[in-house]
Amino acid sequence: MERIKIGIQKQGRLYEESCVLLRSCGLKLSQSKDQLLYRSHDMPVDILLLRDNDIPYLIHQEECDLGIVGRNLISELMEKENQFLSFQEIMPLSFSECKLCLAVPKDSGIKNVHELSNKKIATSHPALLKTFLKKNKIQASIVHLSGAVEIAPRLGIADAIFDLVSSGATLTANQLQPIATVLESEALLIQQKNLFQKKKKKLWIA
Ligand code: PRP
Repeated sequence: MERIKIGIQKQGRLYEESCVLLRSCGLKLSQSKDQLLYRSHDMPVDILLLRDNDIPYLIHQEECDLGIVGRNLISELMEKENQFLSFQEIMPLSFSECKLCLAVPKDSGIKNVHELSNKKIATSHPALLKTFLKKNKIQASIVHLSGAVEIAPRLGIADAIFDLVSSGATLTANQLQPIATVLESEALLIQQKNLFQKKKKKLWIA
């Protein structure tokens, strides 16, 4: 019988609750996390522990059938890759809720997004930021970082940041305050396009 491969984040904000959801579906995820693979013995399902940015690409390449990723990641990829990545959103999962926000140092005096003109903004979501700036006719430079974005203003490499905010603790710890929310994010279940039409003859679905 063909097995279903589900990609989930191997570490980070989505991992724990993805496992809770899969366990609530009856999967026993008992293998060591180091093996980066949980094989279910009583269902034809394999769970692959991946970097979240790789999940949509592996679904596009039909190496993975389903995946759990953040809406922020999907929105960034769609903005960047446009038509070239093929996958479908099945449903939002109501966990890992967070916001993509613009934030500035508390002592910057900046109160709204239009005051970001001619400023530098650090982010790990450059495509979404570029679209937002264009839409709002704001001329600002984008500093692309892959993580630890909140440290950029203190290092003097950016005047503002565009990053995920959940509890707000990281902003507070770095003396930053949000000035705008650009995207509300949460975990999403995604799949290969037409997955069940392709596989329905080979799968037993409870
Ligand atoms: C995000 C974001 C912040 C943090 C904010 O990082 O980049 O660092 O969460 O959360 P808080 O508002 O609850 O403090 P994430 O944990 O997604 O990992 P990352 O460092 O890989 O971006």
